[in-house]
Amino acid sequence: MLVLGIETSCDETAAAVVEDNRTVHVDLVLSQLDDHRPYGGVVPEIAARAHLEHLDGLVARALDEAGIGFSDLDGIAVTGGPGLIGGVFVGVMTAKAIAAASSLPFVAVNHLEGHALSARLGEDVRFPYLLLLVSGGHCQLLVVEGVEAYRRLGTTIDDALGEAFDKTAKLLGLGYPGGPAVEAAAYAGDASRFALPRPLKGRPGCDFSFSGLKTAVRQTIDDLPPGPLADADVADLCASFQAAAGDVVVDRTTNAIAEFEDRYGAGGVLVAAGGVAANQALRQRLDDLAAAKGLRLVAPPPRLCTDNAAMIAWAGIERLRLGLVDGLDFAPRPRWPLDPDATPATGAGVKA
Ligand code: KG4
Ligand code: ZN
Repeated sequence: MLVLGIETSCDETAAAVVEDNRTVHVDLVLSQLDDHRPYGGVVPEIAARAHLEHLDGLVARALDEAGIGFSDLDGIAVTGGPGLIGGVFVGVMTAKAIAAASSLPFVAVNHLEGHALSARLGEDVRFPYLLLLVSGGHCQLLVVEGVEAYRRLGTTIDDALGEAFDKTAKLLGLGYPGGPAVEAAAYAGDASRFALPRPLKGRPGCDFSFSGLKTAVRQTIDDLPPGPLADADVADLCASFQAAAGDVVVDRTTNAIAEFEDRYGAGGVLVAAGGVAANQALRQRLDDLAAAKGLRLVAPPPRLCTDNAAMIAWAGIERLRLGLVDGLDFAPRPRWPLDPDATPATGAGVKA
């Protein structure tokens, strides 16, 4: 089975061709970083226009590099949400047009399900597994019981972890996207120099909170002598931030492992996915945690952690195998929770 995947839900225009034997034939990602950099973040209108401008050409290139035509495909999978709706529309309309013109099955994939199943593109990770999903828009702990079967154990009550990395980078003048920049600067830093808070650490449950940590970073910068920050200050603050964020993630994930084991028994697999799972320091800490608890950590290669279309094609393959096809009347979904039955997170910073 050969599936074309399309991803346009944020600032990456991506197209990939993936086979059901886990072969990624082509995986193209066109980053819009230069378009958004002057604004210090993703501008939805600019993103939608850039997707519109580039997607057709990228799909043509993907097929060309795979040495195939539309008639060789067994399906088209596209991110149907959640995300920036203008971009999602561009991807969905393109995928529908290809599906209609070539009489191919059309699959609308939940972007979060793309991240959630990305580990299974690399190897045969069996259900159920525990998933830490950490990206720019989401920060959740879930049990993946199967395709379209998710049980949310916890989520953020304010910022996502990637958002916290991005805001920290912005405060430090490191530019966008912040995650990789903070990670790079942290290597040279002293993580013990600044005592930053670890929100919710030691509390029961699996929810996250990062806005207090972000505020503490701002206050720490304000307390430094006026003038441009020294490289050592930036490095120490990045290292201190990354250590604090890591402590929170390890604490919350420890609680999730206990809940997972209560329900499904000891052992198993912890999957880390989403853009922030590309962070090597975090992966190391999760690896140590998993080892200490008798679990195995599976984290896709960094390229598959950040947004890409190979994971969308793969999720499409998983859905097609189960006969899950969508109609061409599918409407893009700006919001699309993985676990619609999850108890809403409660807390001071909960977003509507
Ligand atoms: O999954 P993703 O590409 O897009 C969303 O679905 O949100 O995640 C993007 C987020 C951004 O916040 C980015 O700063 C963060 O992932 N990120 C990182 C790293 N690489 C990307 N955060 C920390 N360390 C990294 N190496
Ligand atoms: Zn994503």
